[in-house]
Amino acid sequence: MVISMDRWVGKVAVVTGASTGIGAAIADQLVSNGLKVVGIARRVELVEQRSQDLSDQPGKLYPYKADVSQQDQIVEAFTWIEDTLGPVHILINNAGVAKDTTLVDGDYDAWRATLDVNVLGLCVATREAIKSMKKHDVKGHIVHINSLCGHRVPNFPGFNIYPASKHGVTALTETLRQELNFLGSKIKVTSVSPGLVATEMTTLKEMDPEKRAVVDTFPVMSPEDIADGVIYVLSTPEHVQVHELTIKPVGEIY
Ligand SMILES: NC(=O)c1ccc[n+]([C@@H]2O[C@H](COP(=O)([O-])OP(=O)(O)OC[C@H]3O[C@@H](n4cnc5c(N)ncnc54)[C@H](OP(=O)(O)O)[C@@H]3O)[C@@H](O)[C@H]2O)c1
Repeated sequence: MVISMDRWVGKVAVVTGASTGIGAAIADQLVSNGLKVVGIARRVELVEQRSQDLSDQPGKLYPYKADVSQQDQIVEAFTWIEDTLGPVHILINNAGVAKDTTLVDGDYDAWRATLDVNVLGLCVATREAIKSMKKHDVKGHIVHINSLCGHRVPNFPGFNIYPASKHGVTALTETLRQELNFLGSKIKVTSVSPGLVATEMTTLKEMDPEKRAVVDTFPVMSPEDIADGVIYVLSTPEHVQVHELTIKPVGEIY
């Protein structure tokens, strides 16, 4: 199998949640591989700063402010991308949230926000990207940033609705693959499932100190480790589809 990013050079990639953590690292690596990358986030000023830092790289980072829990904002984003940069070739559905609440005494707004971003935002962005790919006959690639929590529920306090949202991503990966097959489409879909990564999500200042102490004992990866995995799945030949890539830190225990 020949591994190469060559066919993506100069093409358009969209990364949701590109302001920090895993999404920022993926956007950086796509820019250094020569792609035009649209980095979507609410804190667009962080993406703007990264765009300046990457100005000597072969590709370019285009900051775009949008809230992926809002369908109309995602649709507007993809319209802007198509009109300004051209057809979408790659979508990285990375934006995600984990809220500090419980199921037994939970906060409905926190549950809803989690599902709106992790599940529905991902579905809307996927639909819009595929619309663009189909219109221009692009053999594109959709990558869902899933989680180990999308495959089993770690015995860890207060995960509430997050593992359910990521189990949804596991199902959505296979459902999309089947729908694309029914259409005879060559668009690929991949789920990338990381274990613990040091990001804002896992270093929450407001995290309960007891939980914080448990998390601090776990082995952890960097956002760049996950970005490397994403570059690998994108580098596979057109006829090869990595369905699921699980990435754990050595010594992972939860
Ligand atoms: N960290 C881990 O241990 C870990 C493990 C497995 C999977 N993951 C998954 O990896 C992905 C990235 O998480 P991370 O760890 O890198 O966390 P992070 O640093 O908190 O990044 C989350 C990103 O999502 C964006 N986002 C959140 N809500 C959004 C919204 N409504 N609209 C637009 N963007 C939104 C944030 O941007 P703004 O706030 O600027 O909008 C930010 O860029 C998530 O899907 C997460 O579930 C993380």
